[in-house]
Amino acid sequence: MSSDFNDKWAEFEEMCLKCTGCGLKDTVTNVVIYRGSRRAPLMIVGEAPGAEEDKEGKPFVGRSGRLLQSLIDAYGFGENDYHICNICKCRPPDNRRPEPSEIAACKKNLAVQFKLVQPKVILLCGSTAYEGFFGNKPVMKDVRGQFIEKNGFFIMTTYHPAFALRNPANKIPIFEDMGKVRDKLAELGLMEPWKGLN
Ligand code: URA
Repeated sequence: MSSDFNDKWAEFEEMCLKCTGCGLKDTVTNVVIYRGSRRAPLMIVGEAPGAEEDKEGKPFVGRSGRLLQSLIDAYGFGENDYHICNICKCRPPDNRRPEPSEIAACKKNLAVQFKLVQPKVILLCGSTAYEGFFGNKPVMKDVRGQFIEKNGFFIMTTYHPAFALRNPANKIPIFEDMGKVRDKLAELGLMEPWKGLN
């Protein structure tokens, strides 16, 4: 990465660490910004950090994260292919859903992140991620699994991995949606075609 990019990234992290957009930062151990690559063709967006994420300072490292990672690995994504983050960078107390005001406050951080990462394909995991992006609450079964093309970006919504932890059968639609994302990246020439499960 160029030193200009590194400087901009450092400014962005500083902006997140100093953010006073809502009161959540005063209650957390870590502001959780990302894991994966800082530039990536795929951005995966969840809701907000949970207890393990707050402790480690990285998104999706708990039970949901392990499930998500198993799908990422199954489709042969390398670390440079994806960037994982959340709509909210601070853990809401007791893992409650972030309030609309907290989502709105964190959006300016996400907008800068988005400009720096420059993804072509975005995978929104769960209804909060959808709401954060599009501003309205979705009916998940209606919106999942379909690409929305917006300003040259391809946006796919899928269920949150926590949904599959509640019932293993729910892994199937998430696996299918991740497959569509993988195929789109290949179609755009941003990854090699998927060779199937080993
Ligand atoms: N759930 C999320 O939405 N994000 C995380 O980082 C972890 C769990």
